[in-house]
Amino acid sequence: MAFDVKTNSLAEYWMPFTDNKGFKENPRLITQASGVYMTDHKGGKVIDGSSGLFCSPAGHCHPKIIEAVHDAMQMTTYVSPFGSSHPLSFALAEKLARLLPEDFNHVFFVNSGSEAIDTALKMVMAYHSAMGNDRTRFVSRERAYHGVNIGGVSLSGLVNNRKSFPAVMPNIVMMRHTWNADELMVRGQPQTGVELAEDLQRAVDTFGGQTIAACFVEPVAGSTGILAPPVGYLERLRQICDENGILLVFDEVITGFGRIGGKFAADAFGVTPDIMTMAKALTNGSIPMGAVATTDNIHDVISDKAAPGAIEFFHGYTYSGHPAACAAGLAALSIYEDDDMYGRAATMSPYFLDSVYQLRDHPMVKDIRGIGMAAGVELKSNGKPGQRGGQAQVDLFWNGMHVKFTGDCGILSPMFISEKSHIDEMMEKLKKTLDGLT
Ligand SMILES: Cc1ncc(COP(=O)(O)O)c(C=O)c1O
Repeated sequence: MAFDVKTNSLAEYWMPFTDNKGFKENPRLITQASGVYMTDHKGGKVIDGSSGLFCSPAGHCHPKIIEAVHDAMQMTTYVSPFGSSHPLSFALAEKLARLLPEDFNHVFFVNSGSEAIDTALKMVMAYHSAMGNDRTRFVSRERAYHGVNIGGVSLSGLVNNRKSFPAVMPNIVMMRHTWNADELMVRGQPQTGVELAEDLQRAVDTFGGQTIAACFVEPVAGSTGILAPPVGYLERLRQICDENGILLVFDEVITGFGRIGGKFAADAFGVTPDIMTMAKALTNGSIPMGAVATTDNIHDVISDKAAPGAIEFFHGYTYSGHPAACAAGLAALSIYEDDDMYGRAATMSPYFLDSVYQLRDHPMVKDIRGIGMAAGVELKSNGKPGQRGGQAQVDLFWNGMHVKFTGDCGILSPMFISEKSHIDEMMEKLKKTLDGLT
């Protein structure tokens, strides 16, 4: 699609999480994409090193997804999800439930990861209300990112995401993050740090376990720059939750659908939560959609409490289970299965990680943390946090590669369709860009 940045105004669109002024002085628009490549508005070829925003393991513009969405739109462009629905929503929920850990037989559709987090918070509250529990405290973690709605900001452990928004939910207790400055360049799960899970026990000891409703964690903290859990850490959180009737929620918005091994982090680490949130790769990023899945037990406690004929869960969105999103989700999950995307991710991971860790001695690199098909490459700060990362992101783009940066950390998460030659191309462009940084 032609777009002339000289004649079209860039002023009106207020871009999210963007230095709008800087961007509009030096715009970088994507006008087309296919597979692992995108095309910018000047006609340049850009390789996608972050699957967009961890969204598209099967590549951009997958024809089967386009066709499925097109077909669904011929059937119906909208159905009210309150008290009615359409066949694709049931089909997707069933397909998803078959992928999830045993007992996760109930799926609630939303439109984003942030909505998934708010929905999970309300599911936890509804469960404890139905149980007659008086639990109003939530536990989260420093450096956590759980989206941008008020629930997610309340759980957020990233200062910039909180500091302009003081009126968030009360009664949130923070565990420490798991990054260890004395143990850099860790590949996979750190061997040390399991004791950090005792922060949850300390919350129990301080406030009383019976006051804590749930503990929310990203099994691998993603947006902060890929922090894999120390060996034994998630197991210990699970144990403390079990001992105290606390629900464990895994935010799998990034880790879901094979990103760090297994189909979900719950499989990869062998720890099963009570509630899982997901989004992004659910539709290969093609149509906005998120989901919250839970067990028979939690679902039944909430449902059984409602009077016959009454709504069980007073929650939902106008676009929950939209037909276009369901069609995209069904097509994406079929592609992941039919083209063995989970297997491809597992096979490519060692090559990808070997390649990324070759940057370990680069003078600009402070730390690298990688697991599965995700790696955080943290640059040395120039004293102004985020400035060097922001520059790297722009330079990298003009060198022909897209990477998502959080502050000074570039977060690589290649598509699962990437070949070794694509990984080589990414590393070449990344190195060239880092060489040019000051
Ligand atoms: C772990 C996690 N949770 C929630 C979200 C929010 O998702 P969304 O941007 O779709 O609202 C994100 C987004 O990156 C995420 O990484």
